[in-house]
Amino acid sequence: MTKPWNVGVVGYGFMGKAHSNAYRKVANFFPDLEHRPVLKALCARDADKAGQFASTWGFESVETDWRRLIERDDIDAIDICSPNDTHEELAVAAAKAGKMVLCEKPLARNVAEAERMTDAVEKAGVANMVWFNYRRVPAISLAKQVVDEGRIGRPFHYRATYLQDWTIAEDVPQGGATLWRLDVDVAGSGVTGDLLAHSIDTAMWLNGPITRVVADTETFVKERVHQETGKRQAVGIDDACQFLARFANGSMGTFESTRYARGRKNYNTFELNGADGSVHFDLEDPQYLDFFEHTRAGTGDKVEDHLTGWRRVHVTNFEHPYMDKWWVPGCTVGYEHTFVHALADFLRGVETGNAAQPDFRSALETQRVCDAIFASVESGGWVDTGVKS
Ligand SMILES: NC(=O)c1ccc[n+]([C@@H]2O[C@H](COP(=O)([O-])OP(=O)(O)OC[C@H]3O[C@@H](n4cnc5c(N)ncnc54)[C@H](O)[C@@H]3O)[C@@H](O)[C@H]2O)c1
Repeated sequence: MTKPWNVGVVGYGFMGKAHSNAYRKVANFFPDLEHRPVLKALCARDADKAGQFASTWGFESVETDWRRLIERDDIDAIDICSPNDTHEELAVAAAKAGKMVLCEKPLARNVAEAERMTDAVEKAGVANMVWFNYRRVPAISLAKQVVDEGRIGRPFHYRATYLQDWTIAEDVPQGGATLWRLDVDVAGSGVTGDLLAHSIDTAMWLNGPITRVVADTETFVKERVHQETGKRQAVGIDDACQFLARFANGSMGTFESTRYARGRKNYNTFELNGADGSVHFDLEDPQYLDFFEHTRAGTGDKVEDHLTGWRRVHVTNFEHPYMDKWWVPGCTVGYEHTFVHALADFLRGVETGNAAQPDFRSALETQRVCDAIFASVESGGWVDTGVKS
């Protein structure tokens, strides 16, 4: 038995498109799901552009005020694909109206907002999820399986980078519809909330809570013209951030993120080194998980010999996470599929009562690490994140 699941999507930008694609595809590739997404309404302020997007993607209706969207009785879930400064107001109102809430990352601009949002969904008892979609890259899900199987052993080091290069030119403006990421009032922070939030979510999923950080940030271009005022204004975001971390399990972490790494477009990598093995991943080569095995899990037997080396696992076989839903072994999936996987997991969570992660509470923990980074920059020393062990 299937049933319609009516979604209202806020925002028709990058994520509006990625999510709309997922809503359209999920039932075809995950036919065992009971819920069948219906693109009930698209909400954005510009009626013409919203109308064009709605007709391209097959939305039944358009709203130009998110309050009107949330009031509607025919909407089961609100999906927030708008900039970070809108997340709290929208999520809290949607939860109060009894809607399920799916929210893009970072959950909020800071911990205070994220706490209010988490309270709201928990008080309302509505299903909720934050789109940290990289957990759903099959190779990253496989890394999680490898860790859970005990193949890494005692963890020593976690190393993450998230590098881009699109803001190096000094004449890139800030603010407005296209460059809100450079406006601190809208974004909350720069690379920390935008990029490192992903790295932190992945790291804590794979390697447990980050308990302490010491951080350094830089804003290389101090002033940029603001698209809304036309004036040169101070830049309030962090252009680059590097931090050291300690995990609750005793391992050490290094994290680096910037939008000034010439040649790097979306270089999201991590490596976890343990006593028994290591895993390495690079989003620019997303089909592969690199694995080094030193000790066979569960046996304690050393497996290294003269042919030992890093193993490149092409994560396209039926036994790999999510891959039995797509093509035959050897055929790859890409970026957009991560959103289909996240949505499928969310709907399955609604159906089974076993809520998909990360939910708002989990994303709040990531937000705590982000806030601790800025507290450390301020104080110049180590800061406890407050993330629970
Ligand atoms: N999961 C990921 O990998 C990922 C990638 C990119 C962006 N994001 C997140 O998704 C969110 C949106 O980012 P984006 O890149 O899609 O931005 P975008 O600028 O491409 O699109 C934002 C959309 O929000 C709409 N909007 C803005 N204010 C609104 C309001 N008050 N009411 C209704 N609509 C409004 C805009 O018209 C636009 O359609 C951000 O929180 C961002 O951090 C996540």
